[in-house]
Amino acid sequence: MTTARHIVRPKIRGYICVSAHPEGCAENVREQIRYVQAQKPIRDAPRNVLIIGASTGYGLASRIALAFGAKASTLGVFFEKPGESDRPASAGWYNTAAFEQEAAKAGIKAWSINGDAFTHEVKAAALDIIRKRMGKVDLVIYSLAAPRRTDPADGQSYRSVLRPVGQSFSSKTLDTDKNAVGFATLPPATDDEIKATVKVMGGEDWELWMNALDAAGLLAEGCKSVAYSYLGPQVTWPVYKDGTIGQAKKDLERAAKRIDALLKFHRGQAFISVNKAVVTQASSAIPVVPLYIALLFKVMKARNLHEGCIEQAWRLFSTQMYNENFVDFDDERRARLDDRELSPEVQTEVFALWPKITTENLFSETDYASYQVEFLKLFGFGFPNIDYETPVTLDIPIPSIPPVATEAGQKG
Ligand code: NAI
Repeated sequence: MTTARHIVRPKIRGYICVSAHPEGCAENVREQIRYVQAQKPIRDAPRNVLIIGASTGYGLASRIALAFGAKASTLGVFFEKPGESDRPASAGWYNTAAFEQEAAKAGIKAWSINGDAFTHEVKAAALDIIRKRMGKVDLVIYSLAAPRRTDPADGQSYRSVLRPVGQSFSSKTLDTDKNAVGFATLPPATDDEIKATVKVMGGEDWELWMNALDAAGLLAEGCKSVAYSYLGPQVTWPVYKDGTIGQAKKDLERAAKRIDALLKFHRGQAFISVNKAVVTQASSAIPVVPLYIALLFKVMKARNLHEGCIEQAWRLFSTQMYNENFVDFDDERRARLDDRELSPEVQTEVFALWPKITTENLFSETDYASYQVEFLKLFGFGFPNIDYETPVTLDIPIPSIPPVATEAGQKG
């Protein structure tokens, strides 16, 4: 039987692309692997790593950095759509298929679970794989960016929102659909919306994961855990740091302290790493952020300070967490990988440009062109070495995930 092949083009809907190119996504993964292979291997690195939110953005980069930079065995948990014979998978699915393929070629062990990380079932499946295949974990990375969560304790569902708290917020913003600079006003969140966002993006689920691993005796001596956060510049504070998502991130910091206390029993540690703004599926959804990133890219590139997810993940592991280094904590016991982004020189230059940006000068005065390139790359588009006119197979399996049963029988 021959498999149907299709030409895949970007299909952008609002701030998301609803199609993904399997070979382009594979190239995106290989590009990150090449970056890591060009660095010196990480010493005293973890052997067994659980990454929750492992298929795109910071979680994928962390997985690649540790697998290819330290030969760590990884278990990746994520929530992605598999492809069908006539419909592309989501980008994270193709990323993971490519990651596993490259890992297998390099003799690096990898397992993946596609499912809702908030459920008891996915946690139980992960614990089972760790127990049977890995023994114990030395590092747990919590890198979820989820729009909704059902609390497994009572079955209640919550949806996160990106809203200011207390009062409405108006700001210059960029409509990435129309490439137009304008103003947006966001109404303040209700109490229920704040609570829901904390439920989804706060630290409760991270604690549930760590407590489950502890109860099952799967935390290795010296085990570390890190969750990612963002603070950003003042212009984004009403919608980020002081907004609903910021409340959730405060809760993540609360959870970090409790998990740190738990890991002390294993002579380990837990903390938050505040990372820099990068183009990911999650950040493209935040009002104000795409315009800020377009300016930030311009300024940081000109100063040779530009970093994406893989450079950030690499810096965290190689200069702070491992290689016999210590984490350089701030006053709130957070690692600050956003140090270059928030340096006074960079911020002064970004905000000198900020008021001058209009739709007309968007491309000449900011690096919005790079933003667009980076955005398309998230979905496997725009790689010069991929022939997008050649039809491709869409239902690519992830080797460590059993094929999905369909009405027509087993596929894959
Ligand atoms: P992303 O959208 O690229 O990745 C999110 C990951 O979570 C994917 O692997 C996705 O499959 C997984 N996921 C979502 N819902 C899930 C569920 N119910 N069950 C299992 N997996 C699920 O996001 P990004 O940007 O990499 O964000 C990761 C973390 O990094 C977030 O905490 C974010 O706040 C933080 N961060 C992001 C920054 C940015 O500029 N993008 C900056 C600093 C921190």
